[in-house]
Parts: sequence; structure tokens; C-alpha cells
Amino acid sequence: MRQFVVVGHDVPTDSEGISLADLPGAGRLDLLCRCVATGVFLSYGIRDDVAVHLVCADELTVTFDAASLRHLHPDERNVAARIRDALAARADAIGHMPADVSPGVKLRRMGLSATLDRVAADGTLIHLHEEGAPLVDADPPEDPVFVLSDHNDFTESEASLLADAADRRVSVGPNRLHADHAVSVVHNWLDTDGYASY
Ligand SMILES: C[S@@+](CC[C@H](N)C(=O)[O-])C[C@H]1O[C@@H](n2cnc3c(N)ncnc32)[C@H](O)[C@@H]1O
Repeated sequence: MRQFVVVGHDVPTDSEGISLADLPGAGRLDLLCRCVATGVFLSYGIRDDVAVHLVCADELTVTFDAASLRHLHPDERNVAARIRDALAARADAIGHMPADVSPGVKLRRMGLSATLDRVAADGTLIHLHEEGAPLVDADPPEDPVFVLSDHNDFTESEASLLADAADRRVSVGPNRLHADHAVSVVHNWLDTDGYASY
């Protein structure tokens, strides 16, 4: 399975802080929605073995599991509405037990550290960073878990957490990309088995 953990530093954790008319104003929720859409959708289709985890303000994590998603559309407002619904269901998430928000969407009371502990057990943890080792030189692992930041740098404590927890730090190229574009490059690398098969 492919997984993406995207750290949203400034996303409101209260659903009332999200206006679908102003997604950039909600902690760049527009960008995070594009990460979800790029993670789970193909053109006119959905990937079947991908999960995207949005860590919101190091407090809550919204997970989109492509295999069981229903009635989700790739536009940002549609994805944002699911995130808003998830945040509104926070009272149903007790301890580390998730709230089932809608098919394929769950909310957990977990910040970055707990989310990495949970998902890293299932695969190889890869920190995406422009100063990492070239992607082209790496072999695609069986069950990669990629970790990205939003429009901000990782904080010092996040960077040190990743330095300890990540199996690899990998760069997709010399330029700093938007997080959703980095997700797209990584999908292409995996889709082509490391640029080997087309
Ligand atoms: C817009 S960048 C973060 C910008 C942030 N201000 C910074 O300086 O890192 C969003 C995320 O995309 C990923 N990313 C962007 N460019 C990348 C590259 N060339 N290689 C690997 N990951 C990249 C990183 O995870 C990064 O944290």
C-alpha cells in the first residue's frame, strides 16, 4: 500500500473555522485538499491501494482510504467538505479509536508522532525533502509511507522526529515543489516501478 502523511500546521481543528468559500484562509486547506485528491485520484478513476493522512495542527489526523471512499470528487471544495465533516466528528474519536466519518474517511485524535507510529509499522517511512537522496537512485519499497509538509517548513521538533523515525530522506528533484506536485512525482515513480516500466 502507498501512504502519504501530510502535515498541515495551520489548519483549524474546529470545523467552524473552515469556510468552503475561503480554503486558503483555513490554513491553506486548498493545498491540503489537492494533496488528498492527487493522492487518491486518477483521471476518471480512483487508486485502489492508497491512504492519505492529513495531520491537522499536530492534534487530529483525517485519513482518506482510497479503497473504501464513496462519492468523493476531486475538486477542492468537495474534499474540504469531508475534512470539515471529519473535524465536526471529533467528539466521536475517543482515545486513539477513530471516528468513522463517512466511507473511507476516519478521524483520529493523533498528532504527527502518534500517526507516524501507527502507519510506519506498516511500511518504509520516507521523509520527502529537497535535500534528500535522489529518488531515481532508490528502489521503490513494497509499502512506502511518504511524509510531507504543507506550505511551511517542518518545525524543529518534527524534523528531529523524522530524523529518528524515517528510514530514508529522499528528494524528487532540485526544485522545491508544492506538496501536491511532490505527491504526483512520487506516484509516477511508483507507477513506473522506479521509472523502469511504462
Ligand atoms: C512547498 S514544500 C515546503 C516549503 C517549505 N517552506 C520548505 O522550505 O520546505 C512542501 C513539501 O513538499 C515536499 N517537497 C517539495 N519539494 C520537494 C523536493 N524537491 N523533493 C522532495 N520533497 C519535496 C517536502 O516534503 C516539503 O516539505
